[in-house]
Amino acid sequence: MKYTLVIPAAGQGKRMGAGKNKLLLPVRSVPLIIHTLRAFEQDAQCEKIVLVINPEEKALFARLLQEYRVQKPVLFAAGGAERQDSVYQGVLMAESAEYILVHDGARPFVTQQVIDEVLHMAIECGAATCAVPVKDTVKRVQDGMAVETIDRSSLWSVQTPQGFRAGILLAAHEAAKQAAFLGTDDASLVERMGERVAVTLGSYYNIKVTTPDDLIVAESFLNNA
Ligand code: CTP
Ligand code: MG
Repeated sequence: MKYTLVIPAAGQGKRMGAGKNKLLLPVRSVPLIIHTLRAFEQDAQCEKIVLVINPEEKALFARLLQEYRVQKPVLFAAGGAERQDSVYQGVLMAESAEYILVHDGARPFVTQQVIDEVLHMAIECGAATCAVPVKDTVKRVQDGMAVETIDRSSLWSVQTPQGFRAGILLAAHEAAKQAAFLGTDDASLVERMGERVAVTLGSYYNIKVTTPDDLIVAESFLNNA
């Protein structure tokens, strides 16, 4: 089954603190966003890519696509203030797609197996995300004091890609916008509609490059690949 890939790439990378969009930073001399795009370049099911960017960075991204010879058709959409706004703009641009996968520009280590399983479960169930079991103990903390230790056995750290029947994702985004609900991922917008979201096994390598330490981890993953 073919899908359209929506990649939100319009963030500012504040936690990285590099003074620019972290997706432009080199990881082993290749920009982070190129690593992410390459993870989908080999996937024959990926029909086209909607790259959601800050319009001010359009020329920069366009140049990178040329320089690194990205082969898939890439459409640009203009991102918004929050990730959710950016994905919504991407979904609007993916209009004719039957299935949409949403994947963070900042997750360069997604594998074909993870993509396949998310797509498979999105087709089965309408919506799916990958995730990994939480490794650390998680506490709720207030004013520097532990107030609750949450049972870890049912906790999963959610990743992307997340896959959807396109109509479900569009409806969920429109309902969230209507209600001024802001979620940190797209699956949560579908969940709040009362729809089921299947959870497949992601990978501990599928990190979101967020803070400077993640860049060191990312370099080392590439050195050992
Ligand atoms: N993103 C986006 N539009 C936004 C915010 C984020 O398209 N308004 C994208 C980022 O470019 C990234 C993905 O969503 O690929 C996940 O977001 P995150 O890791 O939080 O990246 P940033 O928002 O750039 O980082 P920070 O939150 O530290 O500023
Ligand atoms: Mg962010």
